[in-house]
Amino acid sequence: SQLLRLGIAGLGTVGTGVVKIVRQKAPLLTERSGRSIEISAVSARTRDKDRGVNLSSYAWEDDPVALATREDVDVFVELMGGSDGPAKAAVEAALKAGKDVVTANKAMLAHHGQALAALAEAHGAVLRFEAAVAGGIPVIKALTEGLAGNDIERVMGVMNGTCNYILTRMEDGGLTYDEAFAEADALGFLEADPQLDVGGIDAGHKLSLLSSIAFGTQVNFDAVELEGIGSVTIEDIRQAADMGFRIKLLGVARMTGRGLEQSMAPCLVPANSPLGQLQGGTNMVVIEGDQVGQIVMRGAGAGEGPTASAVMGDVMDVARGLRVSTFGRPAASLVEAVPARASTP
Ligand code: HSE
Repeated sequence: SQLLRLGIAGLGTVGTGVVKIVRQKAPLLTERSGRSIEISAVSARTRDKDRGVNLSSYAWEDDPVALATREDVDVFVELMGGSDGPAKAAVEAALKAGKDVVTANKAMLAHHGQALAALAEAHGAVLRFEAAVAGGIPVIKALTEGLAGNDIERVMGVMNGTCNYILTRMEDGGLTYDEAFAEADALGFLEADPQLDVGGIDAGHKLSLLSSIAFGTQVNFDAVELEGIGSVTIEDIRQAADMGFRIKLLGVARMTGRGLEQSMAPCLVPANSPLGQLQGGTNMVVIEGDQVGQIVMRGAGAGEGPTASAVMGDVMDVARGLRVSTFGRPAASLVEAVPARASTP
């Protein structure tokens, strides 16, 4: 049909951003997809809260599962977060009802992505999650579409805006950890549980998804060698700077003869390299393919506009009739990810 009807669960920073795009850019979205994109219903934990956007024309559901399975919802947009619990229950319900799902939920996907992709396939639905990795940077589309003719050799990146913000503000602004953390919070970068950010877990979730897509392996978050930024001191940052380096929470994934290597840890990078120059809440993903060589993508990895941008990119793919899940291949074809111990990149 000409109409594509969304049900949006979760009206925090990202959900509100998606509602704004759908409301403000309707003619453009129609021009680009040939469909009229509308919101049928929304759901969030709290109903009475001023979100700076008019929700009165949409049906309200308290229960995200009820929202996900509504007759008048074609695409369930899950922006609640949380690896288990209501988000996962609602996504499963939507897929079982044959509805397409667009989600930004990296924690859920890192733990259950493959099972959810298989569920989608079993019910003729698609599961898309560009917004789950590096916010506004369309890195998954680059890997699955533009680089589909390459063997990917290595994927690296800074994929947590909060950590990069804290580290760069400590270095350039002379801020304490707590001051930099408070600024990141004010910018809307933080997870509900900030330990996911500073502990490197959030970035590890993203790396495990990218590895799976890049190397055709099963998502294996447990195999990521993980270290957060909690042990990085001002002294470390100063010493690194004296030697011409900066400290970044860097993820590296590559296939070696010994298996898949995935690490997410504070690393020294040359201060004058693209990674070393990366400021604030920005993310950077470096992809190396056997045909294309090296590609560097930089952009906002968090926040309302950038994350909503990625969500809408997936909605537009569905609107245009793309019937491929974000893994870019059937879930059953993903091979076991034999973990190799990481070495320095
Ligand atoms: N807390 C995440 C970050 C949000 O700081 O990058 C985007 O995934």
